[in-house]
Amino acid sequence: MKIVEGHIAIEKPANVESWDVDPYSDEYLLNPVPNYRELRGRGDFVYIPRYSILATGHHRVVGEILARQDVFVSSRGTGINDYTVHENWRKPSIILEVDPPYHTRTRTAMMRTLTPNVVNGLKPLFQAEADKLVDAVVGKGSFDAIPDLAETFSVGVFPRAVGLKSVDRRKIIDYGILTFNASGPDNERTREWMRRGAETIPWMTESCKREALHPDGMGEAIYKQVDTGQITDEEAAMLVRAFLAAGMDATIAAVGIVLWSLATNPGEFAKLKSDPSLARAAFDEALRLNAPVHHFYRTCIADTEVSGVVIPENAKVMMSYASANLDPAKFDDPERYDITRKTPGMMTFGTGLHSCVGQMLARAEGEAVVAALARKVSRIELTGEPVWRPNNFVRSLISLPVAFS
Ligand code: HEM
Repeated sequence: MKIVEGHIAIEKPANVESWDVDPYSDEYLLNPVPNYRELRGRGDFVYIPRYSILATGHHRVVGEILARQDVFVSSRGTGINDYTVHENWRKPSIILEVDPPYHTRTRTAMMRTLTPNVVNGLKPLFQAEADKLVDAVVGKGSFDAIPDLAETFSVGVFPRAVGLKSVDRRKIIDYGILTFNASGPDNERTREWMRRGAETIPWMTESCKREALHPDGMGEAIYKQVDTGQITDEEAAMLVRAFLAAGMDATIAAVGIVLWSLATNPGEFAKLKSDPSLARAAFDEALRLNAPVHHFYRTCIADTEVSGVVIPENAKVMMSYASANLDPAKFDDPERYDITRKTPGMMTFGTGLHSCVGQMLARAEGEAVVAALARKVSRIELTGEPVWRPNNFVRSLISLPVAFS
């Protein structure tokens, strides 16, 4: 048995093209759209020899794999590593990286704390914070919308919603970046963020303890289920960690992406201003076009066939959610930003059993920021070059110089 990048190597299946590409290189990650086109153009699946993985970027194929959770499992890792042959840097997530029936227990526990009522109850907080931050920069000249708006907004609202008593802005952001990078191969990016983890990991462990949380947040709502015997104390701590790991980095990326989309599409911003009720649609469409999460993996546990291709047992399959969103077989003129587009079926938040439990919350956050722009800003001007930060999983900007008038 040969191990490549923490998983069992497979032979290239018959009738699949080999593509000599590194989907974790700066070149691929910084300009992904042409690569997604090529990924789809080479067939329903490609074999990437460098990592001995299969990859797909077709909407239909991604949907089929996600629907076949009995053969394509999450419990062997949703990144490139296979937990049956590779020891992870932390215990696997007890929601993202488990299968039914155990998954039902932990997902239900999280859903009990993320009800529509809870999300609706948080909306005034999100709107007040977005309004305050936008007011502070309108008419003030050039500023960097990533640290000053996307990060400040997310750090201002999300840890408060979870109920963290003390928030270290750098560490909470860095923990999310670390988690996503570490799901990729053992490249320089992963190693750099693991080094930084020496500080952030112990801080995160302490922050997820019950005594570190306010009694009125979503974190305490998780711990209350320990009192009623629905989950254990250890499970509660891990679910709170899952909130914080999953809820920050992708949301900061998402807010950055919608700001960039509106800044670079003045016609769509004008449409939004004339009809601010399009705020949610403008956010969703920005995330369809540039999904903050590039891909997730499943591991195949028995020889099976998808789309005429025999997928061997142990195959790691990279499903490019971001490419599936640009599949012309699913969306007309898919590379155009159109805030009136209907986006059901977009893969930005996954679909099926493991679809994002935080998506209503993330969308409420994004909608608040876009609604504030629609009401308070007449023009968004780019004042410098946007800078993207390559990450093994997340597509995010690190700098977006703009002026709001
Ligand atoms: C725009 C921001 C976000 C994006 C793009 C995003 C994306 C995703 C995606 C694609 C998945 C599916 C994973 C898979 O197929 O294996 C997922 C799952 C998940 N997300 Fe999010 N997410 C976001 C925000 C959040 C927030 C705010 C939270 C917490 C409140 C959260 C918590 C989770 C959890 C716990 C799972 C695992 C669900 C399961 O396995 O049953 N996410 N997310």
